[in-house]
Amino acid sequence: MKDRQNIHGSWANRWIFILAATGSAVGLGNIWKFPYIAGENGGGAFVLVYLAFILAVGVPIMMAEVLVGRRGRQSPINSMREVAIESEHSPKWALVGWVGALAGFLIFSFYSVVAGWVLAYVAGMANGDFLDIGSEQAGKAFNDLLADPQALVIWHTVFVILVMTVVMGGVNKGLERATRIMMPALFVLLTVLLGYSMTTGSFGAGVDFLFHFDPSELSWDAVLVALGHSFFTLSLGMGAIMAYGSYMPKDASIGGTVLTIAALDTLVALIAGLAIFPIVFANSLDPGAGPGLMFITLPVAFGQMPGGQIFGFLFFVLVALAAWSSAISLMEPAVAWMVERFGLGRGPVCTLLGIVVWMLGLAALSSFNVGSDVALFGMNIFDFLDFITANVMLPLGGLFVAFFTGWVLKQKITEDELDIKEARIYMAWSFSIRYIAPIAVAAIFILNLIEKLG
Ligand code: TRP
Repeated sequence: MKDRQNIHGSWANRWIFILAATGSAVGLGNIWKFPYIAGENGGGAFVLVYLAFILAVGVPIMMAEVLVGRRGRQSPINSMREVAIESEHSPKWALVGWVGALAGFLIFSFYSVVAGWVLAYVAGMANGDFLDIGSEQAGKAFNDLLADPQALVIWHTVFVILVMTVVMGGVNKGLERATRIMMPALFVLLTVLLGYSMTTGSFGAGVDFLFHFDPSELSWDAVLVALGHSFFTLSLGMGAIMAYGSYMPKDASIGGTVLTIAALDTLVALIAGLAIFPIVFANSLDPGAGPGLMFITLPVAFGQMPGGQIFGFLFFVLVALAAWSSAISLMEPAVAWMVERFGLGRGPVCTLLGIVVWMLGLAALSSFNVGSDVALFGMNIFDFLDFITANVMLPLGGLFVAFFTGWVLKQKITEDELDIKEARIYMAWSFSIRYIAPIAVAAIFILNLIEKLG
């Protein structure tokens, strides 16, 4: 068995890996995006398709990313190259890592804008800005924030600095230390808030909306969105999990850890939905309100509930922590690669890449004010970045990783790394990675294309 050393360090143990990867997976995707896209796409049927993709496509691909990372022990770009060479294939497979690093930047640029809104709401909640406001005023408050480029730039800047400070610390003093503090805090906050939402909102309507299955409400568009989201929420398709896998201890089982991560991620998304939709229905708000859902509905509800100010504050702190621990994984692949390639320290690399990503973010946040006229394929810059990454780049990245591990890697390598004792389970993984995942992704792409052209 090849035993490479990772120059960046490695996680102290298997649990740190699980928590760090869960920190990457659980983010704005779960708390902000999942409820609003479920709302836009009709609820139950969408949720079921999304769950199926997590299990049939997401889990096997996550295992593939971790195994390539752990085998290569370097940044995704260099791991893909090394592992391809080890299997006597072209070093050009590194290209998948390159596209992934680019996707990381593009995602970060709009992610940071939304995280900035969250920070603004943490401050607003602490300030008592949302006490006793109605949904109209809440909508106005949100739109006023979007129309204020100066405020958006400030919060976006704060977020970029927070993220880069952690990444600068490196694997053990940055990522791992942040994980040890943020993840327990996240779980405590989530438990407190779930308990709170169960005693307040009208729970039944929310449950019904999320789990009522009506296939007639499902469009091809919704299937594509569900597929894209299963990649987005598990942080797949751009190398984030591959990078985290490269820091994973040799003796930890990949299958078990990945299932734990996927289960925790799904749980948080469903809990977020169960916290938000009851409030939406209790206040006769629109579940299809789009990206503003969390920022408009929740302040209204918190503003009227006993203890709402403190719980509202805690809620947005929770979302901020989740966004923070996710965003560090968007930058880690590119940072690790630059450190490897140029032998620079993390300080200069993070400063440089921080500036790049900060500028990209300016373009994303201008969509809501000065740049609202700019249209790319009929979308504003923010929506375009979201669409092109989540619905195109991530599924394609995942497709290549699946093809690579299923068809290009020597079987000896996948067997070594996965180390699955039961032949049947290995076969199941191998079947999904060779057939189910690539065919599902390709089919959905092609069917969508046909529908759009036809
Ligand atoms: N998974 C995170 C979320 O749901 C976002 C994220 C972090 C991500 N790293 C990623 C998405 C890598 C795609 C790829 O909010």
